[in-house]
Amino acid sequence: MSVDWLELEKVAKAWTYEAAGLIKQSLANPIHIEAKSNPDDLVTEVDRAIESFFYHKIDQTYPEHHFLGEEGIAEELNSLDGTVWIIDPIDGTMNFVHQKYNFAISVAVYHDGVGMVGLIYDVMNDELFHAIRGHGAYVNNEELVPVKERPLHESIIGLNAKWLVQEKNPYKNPLKALVRDVRSIRSYGSAALEIAYVAADRLDGYISVNLSPWDYAAGIVLLEEVGCKASTFRGEHLDYLQKSTVIVGKPSLHKEMVSSYVGEEL
Ligand code: IPD
Ligand code: CA
Ligand code: CA
Ligand code: CA
Repeated sequence: MSVDWLELEKVAKAWTYEAAGLIKQSLANPIHIEAKSNPDDLVTEVDRAIESFFYHKIDQTYPEHHFLGEEGIAEELNSLDGTVWIIDPIDGTMNFVHQKYNFAISVAVYHDGVGMVGLIYDVMNDELFHAIRGHGAYVNNEELVPVKERPLHESIIGLNAKWLVQEKNPYKNPLKALVRDVRSIRSYGSAALEIAYVAADRLDGYISVNLSPWDYAAGIVLLEEVGCKASTFRGEHLDYLQKSTVIVGKPSLHKEMVSSYVGEEL
């Protein structure tokens, strides 16, 4: 059955605003925080409630669609065949817990592995980035212009400085060289927002040594609409079923970062 992507985007947007309302309400009460894989990997009952909110909405409205989300509400997915919603209910949970600010809801819809709709909503700033394949990318309904290239030495890159001091990070030295050579770095603590900022020309590139599909799925739809590139550090296509290194940026910057910095065999 063919899907009307413009219509589906409106539905996804309405759910995203509704979910944001629930997140804001939750801030009035104490939030129960747990650690997942390590003491700095946080999750709250709000992350789980919002993922469950989307899961049930999708299941009721589009029972034939599939679901991939961070908090494991749905069964594990082994293929991207058909229509798949890839959702991060709160991207930037550490910011949500510590700052009550700078976090986003990230919703992507892929069809047979191709990104069709991407929404990234900065809840506290009321800033919605959205893109529909072939229809452009927008921030609060204002169209994002095709990217302007800047040379690497004038570029600002999103990067978590922690990667530079982790002994076991095999990319430590290439990343240090990149930090040395670019104009500056920023670290906002939400991969989805940082990728949206590249699409919006607020950053020139963004790099992470370890992201999951729900961190970048929506952002990639935005990037494709404005002519930016995204890949693994080796320049390969991103996988949507497992974790990966991620490098995104304006086309020539992306190429240079891969070929002269992080793309080498280690
Ligand atoms: C995290 C954020 C963070 C990135 C981490 C992600 P979460 O997502 O996007 O900026 O550095 O790698 O796991 O756990 O807050 O959804
Ligand atoms: Ca998390
Ligand atoms: Ca995330
Ligand atoms: Ca999350």
